[in-house]
Amino acid sequence: MTRMLVTGGAGFIGSNFVHYTVRHHPEYEVRVLDALTYAGDQTSLAPVADQVEFVHGDICDAPLVDELIAGADLVVHFAAESHVDNSLHNPEPFVRSNLIGTYTLLEAVRKHGARFHHISTDEVFGDLPLDGTEQFTEERAYDPSSPYSATKAGSDMLVRAWARSYGVAATVSNCANNYGPFQHVEKFIPRQVTNVLRGTTPKLYGKGENVREWTHVDDHNAAVHLILSQGKIGETYLIGSGDERSNKQIMRLILELMGQAPDAFEHVADRPGHDLRYSNDSTKIRTQLGWRPRYGDFRAGLAATIDWYRENAWWWGPQKDATEARYQALGR
Ligand code: NAD
Ligand code: DAU
Repeated sequence: MTRMLVTGGAGFIGSNFVHYTVRHHPEYEVRVLDALTYAGDQTSLAPVADQVEFVHGDICDAPLVDELIAGADLVVHFAAESHVDNSLHNPEPFVRSNLIGTYTLLEAVRKHGARFHHISTDEVFGDLPLDGTEQFTEERAYDPSSPYSATKAGSDMLVRAWARSYGVAATVSNCANNYGPFQHVEKFIPRQVTNVLRGTTPKLYGKGENVREWTHVDDHNAAVHLILSQGKIGETYLIGSGDERSNKQIMRLILELMGQAPDAFEHVADRPGHDLRYSNDSTKIRTQLGWRPRYGDFRAGLAATIDWYRENAWWWGPQKDATEARYQALGR
């Protein structure tokens, strides 16, 4: 058995990763380290609670991290502050968790020799023009826009430096926007779906022309597993479905799938510095590791996600009021 430490395993992608690993990869013995911030929820792991060990703790806690990594063969690092709007309001936790936290993990990995996979984002590259077909590649220079993406860019750079200078056995992946179950209600798709379920008007930033490339969380996690088993140490892999849509298109699709009028939303203040378009060229992971997204039909994936939120109000309900209060304070 390979002993795997998953940081941030109570968050959106991390909890889905743990579910996916338990379902498809019995060769791993899974331990989760998560601080249970506002974005972490241990109940997301309830269905697999018997198969994984949960440690409530902070990735900035060096003695704890050292102890856990001494007992791990592999670290898959999801833990981060992940929401752009929050980073614009208060960058401090982003600097702490995304930079100091990653540094703390890397130092322990360096000492104990564990393999390290770092989960990152396409946002480190900045954005692309709205009208065009240009894409991000693994070679593109970093140009982050928000405090969130700047700290993710910094954490990627730490990983690269620790790999080159100290020989840490690391890989990095930068994925596009994820969707699926267990995503916090602060994020675009869950926010609008739960607004409709609550009878609140959905909110579109600015004109809604910004474009994102939507990838199902299980496709992201399948790609991470391919990198763990076949990825080349020291390499970076971009992950993305190729399915690009404007926020307004997504909003209208959500409304259609939920039986609402196409204009049953309101425009609210735009996000400062709002990135226009993201698009990953995922040729490398497709050709070298054979990755293909299984959720080719976004409409079907979105409909299943809407059903999940409809059936799991017990999971998102307790977070909804506090989240909307935070948005109201920001005028969004
Ligand atoms: P999330 O906010 O849903 O979950 C983050 C998890 O990390 C939470 O469980 C939280 O409690 C934990 N955490 C935060 N700070 C911690 C700390 N100091 N110590 C221990 N645990 C801590 O985030 P997510 O959307 O699941 O994103 C996971 C990772 O994937 C992040 O690194 C993010 O940058 C990256 N990513 C996200 C997306 C996306 O679309 N959501 C896309 C590409 C990459
Ligand atoms: O691209 C990967 C990134 O995707 C990840 O690194 C981040 O962790 C993740 O949060 C996500 O970032 P975005 O900023 O793209 O996602 P968010 O869900 O916050 O917003 C998606 C788009 O929708 C964005 O253009 C802003 C817009 N939006 C968002 C909200 C919450 C709205 O129009 N209305 C809203 O209410």
